[in-house]
Amino acid sequence: MARKLFVKAYGCQMNVYDAERMAGVMAAEGYEQTDRPEDADLVLLNTCHIREKAAEKVYSELGRLKKLKDARPDLKIGVAGCVAQAEGAEIQTRQPAVDFVVGPQAYHRLPKLVRDGGVDTEFPVEDKFAAMAPAPRRRAPSAFLTVQEGCDKFCAFCVVPYTRGAEVSRPAARLIDEAKALADQGVREITLLGQNVNAYHGAGPDGADWTLARLLEALSEIEGIARLRYTTSHPNDMGEDLIEAHAGLEKLMPYLHLPVQSGSDRILKAMNRRHTADAYLRLIERIRAARPDIALSGDFIVGFPGETEADFQATLDICEAVRYGSAYSFKYSSRPGTPAAGAGEQVAEDVKSERLSRLQARIEADQRAFQVSMAGRVLPVLVEKAGRMPGQMVGKSPWLHAVHFDAGPELAGQVAQVEILESAPNSLSGRLAG
Ligand code: SAH
Ligand code: SF4
Ligand code: F3S
Repeated sequence: MARKLFVKAYGCQMNVYDAERMAGVMAAEGYEQTDRPEDADLVLLNTCHIREKAAEKVYSELGRLKKLKDARPDLKIGVAGCVAQAEGAEIQTRQPAVDFVVGPQAYHRLPKLVRDGGVDTEFPVEDKFAAMAPAPRRRAPSAFLTVQEGCDKFCAFCVVPYTRGAEVSRPAARLIDEAKALADQGVREITLLGQNVNAYHGAGPDGADWTLARLLEALSEIEGIARLRYTTSHPNDMGEDLIEAHAGLEKLMPYLHLPVQSGSDRILKAMNRRHTADAYLRLIERIRAARPDIALSGDFIVGFPGETEADFQATLDICEAVRYGSAYSFKYSSRPGTPAAGAGEQVAEDVKSERLSRLQARIEADQRAFQVSMAGRVLPVLVEKAGRMPGQMVGKSPWLHAVHFDAGPELAGQVAQVEILESAPNSLSGRLAG
């Protein structure tokens, strides 16, 4: 009987992609995936270190897994991802039930770690993905594809440059091959991933360094791929050719996640974001000129050390100016080893909470208004799977809204034209048009 692997991804989409790739590596070693840890011979937690809460979650999960292991001592437990990179051997000190710890740049060495145990948090020079068996076939029409990893920006609050390492771009030819393989397996939409995806500068097949725009252009030539997206971008790497790609590439969806973090120039400077609020707003104007129906998405941190009420007001102002289609906001979490951690005056927890709820109210109002504006329109919907009601299918709008409508399962994987009739807080519903 095949051995079984249970893998759980926390944090960002890159962890989801990595989890799939690790499942591919272990499939080559004879492991089948299960969605029940109770049935597994090997449990792998792909962890996130971005905020304290995310990192602490891992230890409570490990506590539960230890009980499983007490009953079945041959169960192997591995910790991967950004907590693995940040804490290394400390994880085994805190939870001795852990057999091995593997950092994001050492996943191709997974089989050895499963066999022998230990800690591998090196940053080897070789391309780990080139040495990893392809991920097992997936049925969903959407897939992630990591094109760039790591970050050289060193925002003062952020652990990512330390956990993922320096910026590295994968060679374009490999990405094109991987995208073609995904298309052959029925994938219709690919989201290109990178911590700083628009800083992509991978070697092109022609010997020159390719930009993200050039890569998107090449990928849009793959038949079968209907939609392309990319995330997450830094405002300072939004090149002219990438902005133009939003005007010229039909398959590139009109949705852009472009975090600004704060609307206050003083705080942006302290965060080491290296641009002003005004520069960000002018950039958005240029992007909207290229693609008028583009929806913006963003990330915000409230309560960064030293943030005053006036600084926070500037963040509300930037939301007012941009009108995000969706956005994520977080309370600042002090992370060990980052420059902001002991610096400046920490903002009190209750002040952070109060600012967060005001910001979220603002964001939600815009989000709802955007969603409501879809009513009466006919939208191209990438059909994903059966909906909750019988006879219903669910898919995604170009702006990532979930859309429900009556249709048969044969539509899965196709782009259907759907007339939007109703807009609920979390989804749209409609009927097949034409
Ligand atoms: N590479 C991406 C973001 C990676 S982390 C970018 O540059 O935008 C995702 C989001 O988590 C960040 O955009 C930020 O809003 C938030 N975040 C990062 N570090 C944080 C911290 N210490 N406390 C609170 N939120 C944080
Ligand atoms: Fe973190 Fe800043 Fe890099 Fe994004 S750009 S991953 S927020 S350091
Ligand atoms: Fe978390 Fe690492 Fe992603 S810290 S957000 S899993 S890059």
